[in-house]
Amino acid sequence: MNTTFNVRPLKKEDCREVARIRFEIQEWGFLPSLGVDFLSELLKGTCESKWGFGIACLDKKEKIAGFVFATTDLKKYYRDILFRRGALMAFFAFLRLLQKPDLIHGIVQYLGYPDKMSHDAIKAEWLTMVVREEYRNKKIGNILTSSLIEEFRKRGVKQFKSTVASKNEISCRIHVRYGFKFMRTFNLHGEEINVYKYII
Ligand SMILES: CC(C)(COP(=O)(O)OP(=O)(O)OC[C@H]1O[C@@H](n2cnc3c(N)ncnc32)[C@H](O)[C@@H]1OP(=O)(O)O)[C@@H](O)C(=O)NCCC(=O)NCCS
Repeated sequence: MNTTFNVRPLKKEDCREVARIRFEIQEWGFLPSLGVDFLSELLKGTCESKWGFGIACLDKKEKIAGFVFATTDLKKYYRDILFRRGALMAFFAFLRLLQKPDLIHGIVQYLGYPDKMSHDAIKAEWLTMVVREEYRNKKIGNILTSSLIEEFRKRGVKQFKSTVASKNEISCRIHVRYGFKFMRTFNLHGEEINVYKYII
């Protein structure tokens, strides 16, 4: 057992901090470019949704060192989040668009994401994992991956998928280490994305 770090479910009160942590990593993924307010709403919606969940890894002082988010049914999750938080998300995305109009292209592409992911009939998906830079290489990524698999198991999920930029060596390595099976690649925002599946 790891006594330096603990895991617990993410709460709505954590979401603003978690959104800030995610926002700082702009080099990967599209959604962070829509800003902290947008991300914070999305994550609060994830904590509220029956089809979403998040797990935080905390240090001894209860500071969030890293986190994962996932869904047990991607399409139902998106519909639910849009219903719960869509108006506020659209508002914050619009404010961001006023500052950065070229984001519109990314938004249009992103709307097609659930369709790009619907080929393989696996509904559950691991959405994201981030470890704060100062906490990296201390096995928190491994702790979060194990906790995520356990949470999927508790929720009765038999298999889930995960997407990672193929150039993201560290994350791809964690997937291979845990026995995820590589399925295919696709292109999102000009980036090659690996799709993996995990059978529980
Ligand atoms: C990916 C990420 C979550 C990993 O977190 P972490 O806590 O540092 O990961 P761990 O310490 O548990 O494990 C990292 C593994 O990568 C290896 N590694 C570390 N640096 C590496 C590097 N530069 N190149 C290749 N492998 C590396 C470690 O040896 C370890 O391998 P092992 O488990 O076989 O020993 C973290 O780097 C991160 O937040 N990255 C930015 C966001 C991201 O890319 N998220 C994943 C996409 S969803």
